Parts: sequence; C-alpha cells; structure tokens
Amino acid sequence: MKRVAILGAGFIASVHMEAWRKIEGAEVCAFFEVRPEKAREFQEKYHLPHYDSFRTLLEREVVDIVDICLPTFLHREYTEMAANAGKHVFCEKPIALTVEDALAMKDICTRNGVYLMVGHVLRFWGEYVKAKELLEGGACGKVLFVEAFRLAVTPVWSVGGWILDPRLSGGASLDLHIHDLDYVNWLLGQPKEVFARGLRSEKGSLDHITTQIQYDSGALATVQGGWMMQGDFPFTCGFRILGDEGVLEWSFRAGVNIEEREQVSPLVLYRKGEKKQEIVVQSEDPYLAELRYFLGCVEKDTPPARGTAEEATLALRVALSAQRSAEEGSPLTL
Ligand SMILES: NC(=O)c1ccc[n+]([C@@H]2O[C@H](COP(=O)([O-])OP(=O)(O)OC[C@H]3O[C@@H](n4cnc5c(N)ncnc54)[C@H](O)[C@@H]3O)[C@@H](O)[C@H]2O)c1
Repeated sequence: MKRVAILGAGFIASVHMEAWRKIEGAEVCAFFEVRPEKAREFQEKYHLPHYDSFRTLLEREVVDIVDICLPTFLHREYTEMAANAGKHVFCEKPIALTVEDALAMKDICTRNGVYLMVGHVLRFWGEYVKAKELLEGGACGKVLFVEAFRLAVTPVWSVGGWILDPRLSGGASLDLHIHDLDYVNWLLGQPKEVFARGLRSEKGSLDHITTQIQYDSGALATVQGGWMMQGDFPFTCGFRILGDEGVLEWSFRAGVNIEEREQVSPLVLYRKGEKKQEIVVQSEDPYLAELRYFLGCVEKDTPPARGTAEEATLALRVALSAQRSAEEGSPLTL
C-alpha cells in the first residue's frame, strides 16, 4: 500500500481526494493546508490528519507520494521539498511559471531518484485519448490541421484569488490554454513556430488567446482558450482535426467549471465517401486514471511515460512563447 500526502485543500485537491479513495493500492495518509477554514472543511469531509507545515508532515508521516494541488507559483518550492525528502511527486499543471523552474524541478527529482509526473489530464481523458488512437490508426489519413478550444467564465472561486493574479498563475494562457497546447503537442510532435494574439484582463494577463503553431512535420494548429466568457456560459472544450482523408470532431459542455464532466458527447468521424460515424467513448474519470497511472509507475518502479516533466516543460515553452508573441505582435521560433 503506497501512502499519499495531498498538498492543498482547494478545488483540485478535492477532485484528487475523491479519485484516490477509489484507487486500490494507495491511501491518503495526511494533508497539508495553511488556511484554517479550508483545512477544517477538508478534514470534516475526509477525516485525515492535517498539517499546516509540510516539513512537520514529512517528519511525522510515512509518505511515498506527494500530490501537489497548490497554486502554480508554489509548485517548484514544494516539489523540491518533497524530492529532497525522497518522495515521488505528482504535481498539477502547469508544471511551473518559468522554464527555469520546470527544469529545476525535473533535475531535483532525478538527483533524488524520485519520479515526477505533471497532471496534463487530457492525456488520460477518454475522448482525447480515443482521438489520438484513431489518428494513429489512420482514421483521418495524414493530419494537416488541428483546432482545439477551451472556454470558461472567469474563475473567481480560487482560494484567496491567486488565479487572477498573473504573477501567481500566469493567467489563462498558462493555466487553461496550456491543456490544449500540451494535447496538440501530443498529437503533432515538435512545435517549430508560435504566433499568438489575445485579449488582456484588467490585471494585464492574456485571458483570451488564440495561438497558431507550426510543427516540424508541417502540420498546423490553432488553439483558442480563455476565461473571459460571460454570464452562464458553460465550460466548453473540444477539437476539430483535419486530415487528408477525414475529419474528426468533438465538443463538450460541462457546468460552470469542470466539476460536471459526466455528460457524454460522441466523437464524430467524417471520412471521404463514407457516412459519418459517431463514436461514444465510455471512459472513467480522467483524474482517477492519471493518478492510478502514476501509482502504477511507482509500484513497478518505471518512470512515467505520459505527463512527463519534459512534455510539461514543452507545453510551458509554447504557452510562454505565445505570451511573448502576443506582446511583440510577431511569430517566434521555438
Ligand atoms: N488539471 C486540471 O484540470 C486542474 C483544474 C484546476 C486546477 N488545476 C491546478 O491545480 C492547482 C491548484 O488549483 P485549485 O483550483 O485547486 O486552486 P484553489 O485555490 O482551489 O486551491 C489552492 C489551495 O492551495 C492553498 N494555498 C494558497 N496559497 C497558499 C500558500 N501560500 N501556501 C500554501 N498553500 C496555499 C489554498 O489554501 C487552497 O487550499 C493549480 O496549479 C491549478 O492550475 C488543475
């Protein structure tokens, strides 16, 4: 049985907690949270030992895996503490705010002989995984163009409002848009050139952005993302993939955030000379799938091959290049 410590008691910590409870072979043994009201809520719900100091938690608890569900600006600091204590690290996306931090996180985990995986959850999300399998099986022929999108209302619910401060979260381009930037990298390989334009929030972060990417293969992508939608606009994501033999399309609408993600909408495949095909993917909770995958890596002593630090760092590079490109008004070579 592997013992897990969760850091943070906010939105994604609860999603992870619910997932860990269903995963055989792991148990959450304690959590770290600095805000008393958040700690109380979490403890009342899950009845776990609580620490307001991560150092004390590490001294007192036997832990195999540290699950970092803290705001992005803290990812490096807590990854370093966990790795130096010899713990494997699952860290939420984005890996960090800067490439320098991301590389340091990978380096410290390697030096301590522990694994680092980053929660790029689309790599475990049924429809996104199925689309990749279909494309690899040649369903659309040669992939030429990928569109992907992720649109939401402004997340006013983060604890203490950290997410709306671009110095702490990187804004929507690093926090939300990066999901699809990573996914498109997964489909298309090595990005070569990035050109972006976007709208800024009052605090100056790019909170509605369109990023065009050219890949080494010659394929193109246009990724749109942001959290400037208004009123009751539901969380909306999806993709449209154009190949020389077909088109694959999917879109999905959840609740205000991604907490209501059970709705099923089929992938639709359009192929030359054929009737359209609807493909329903019966998938499990992707957050559970990614955490169970990481547990398996730790149990088998095999480094993660999905959600790697390298993949997360590449997605971060694209997101940061998109920010710079939008500022400078010109394309950037990666
Ligand atoms: N993979 C996904 O789909 C997904 C979804 C949401 C969030 N995230 C990521 O998860 C991370 C956390 O996001 P969230 O939505 O859970 O945020 P949140 O605001 O809901 O929770 C953050 C938690 O960290 C704690 N915290 C805040 N400042 C702290 C500090 N200085 N020291 C220690 N703890 C502090 C808060 O008290 C809170 O418990 C972010 O990196 C975010 O990008 C990923």
